[in-house]
Amino acid sequence: CLWVRNLKLKRRLPGPFAWPVVGNALQLGQMPHITFTRLAKKYGEVYQIRLGCSDVVVLNGGQVIRQALIQHSTEFAGRPNFVSFQFVSGGKSMTFTNYSKQWKMHRKIAQSTIRAFSSANSQTKKAFEQQIVAEATELVESFLKLSAQGQYFNPAQELTVAAANVICALCFGKRYGHDDMEFRALLHKVDQFGQTVGAGSLVDVMPWLQSFPNPVRTVFRNFKSLNQDFFAFVKNKVEKHKETFDPEVTRDISDAIIGVLNEVEKGEELTVGYTEATVADLIGAGLDTVSTALHWIVLLLAKHPEIQTRLHELIDKVVGQNRLPSVEDRQHLAYLDAFIYETMRYTSFVPVTIPHSTTSDVTVSGLTIPKDTVVFINQWSVNHDPLMWKDPHIFDPSRFIDENGSLNKDLTNNVMIFSAGKRRCIGDQIAKVEIFVFFAILLHQCSFEKCPNEDFSLNSTYGLTLKPLNYKITAKLRGESLKSQ
Ligand code: HEM
Repeated sequence: CLWVRNLKLKRRLPGPFAWPVVGNALQLGQMPHITFTRLAKKYGEVYQIRLGCSDVVVLNGGQVIRQALIQHSTEFAGRPNFVSFQFVSGGKSMTFTNYSKQWKMHRKIAQSTIRAFSSANSQTKKAFEQQIVAEATELVESFLKLSAQGQYFNPAQELTVAAANVICALCFGKRYGHDDMEFRALLHKVDQFGQTVGAGSLVDVMPWLQSFPNPVRTVFRNFKSLNQDFFAFVKNKVEKHKETFDPEVTRDISDAIIGVLNEVEKGEELTVGYTEATVADLIGAGLDTVSTALHWIVLLLAKHPEIQTRLHELIDKVVGQNRLPSVEDRQHLAYLDAFIYETMRYTSFVPVTIPHSTTSDVTVSGLTIPKDTVVFINQWSVNHDPLMWKDPHIFDPSRFIDENGSLNKDLTNNVMIFSAGKRRCIGDQIAKVEIFVFFAILLHQCSFEKCPNEDFSLNSTYGLTLKPLNYKITAKLRGESLKSQ
């Protein structure tokens, strides 16, 4: 039956010739999303490749991707049963599990607890913002220390600690100092996570690579070990929460999930381990993505001094130097949001979503994709489609500003970085608030310069997120020190 299905898939979908054993794996190159976009020009926006032992359908372009993920949302809501996915969050990850009743319930619980601690009412909104302001203030201090005597530094680690602290404060009610070496070491290790679960990673489609020494096996061993360490860290915190749990007082997201699962476990099929898995999913998803976004923002500020000057002038006019910017200023700071959207579009730093799989046979653009096919969603192709964007390869935030000086919402909606449909990111709202507040405070307090002798071409490494290489910048204090305010 599987053979007949595969035969059908082979006959119906266009795509490049696949070599025995490796399929098209050797053709992916360093930047698979660029290869996928190039192949779409030749074979159309829906085509098939073969990676090792897996047939994969690649979807490209805004129209096709939205048609698939929104009009056929259930059919595209699955995840493949990749071996690497079973190592995430103690094997009970919501993010990396297939479409099921349990996944639905987990997702709902995770979504509603995030909302309860970030945007449920004006009080939680303010508390969440205060948390970010505190982190951003620390971050400014760290940047200035690292820039002492005009030194240049790579901001990656400080940004990861800052983003991790926001999500740890939400989940555990606790943040960590920038000089907490144990925490930094854990985050440094977790940084490699996306290398294995990004689309095009080979360990899941060529399991035989695990049987002899090679770079893929090394990356996979490292992946197993970092998942174990990270999950042990989360489990320890959740267990402490369980010991001191009081149903009358919900201190943070961990408490909220413990409370909800205590209720549902009685009637439903949820077993032990799901509280820590949900918390691990949220922390994992919330630190790499937000810190990578901030990293690109800082680098693009340094790369485009003329745009930085325009942003400084705007923030000085709207906010002045006597107070810090806040979310309430946002409506007057459209150009900041335009810069954020352009960073997301231009870098497309989550170039391909987490791999999907089809939950039943489904037809897109007249092509039928069988049930249980692995599907890659090429977000980069949406953000660089020349039919949708003028000069897509040029970084120009003003493309999002309309003739009245406001943010063009129709255009910002065309940027795809949080995916769409049933698997759409559930942290998109908190991510947008976080990125705005961090960015506004960094910009208000500092100016950023690139290292003059460095080639600042902003190349990156490929994975679930595109991470900039080791570029160095320096930060200069613009006005008075925050400590003296
Ligand atoms: C899934 C992007 C921040 C929680 C995803 C996916 C993308 C994404 C592309 C995969 C969607 C798919 O497979 O189709 C981003 C970006 C972020 C961000 C660009 C920041 C700029 C966050 C934050 C959280 C979060 C802050 C939570 C605290 C999740 C979860 C999933 C997810 C739980 C899995 C959803 C599922 O499989 O049902 N995100 N994300 N994300 N994100 Fe985010």
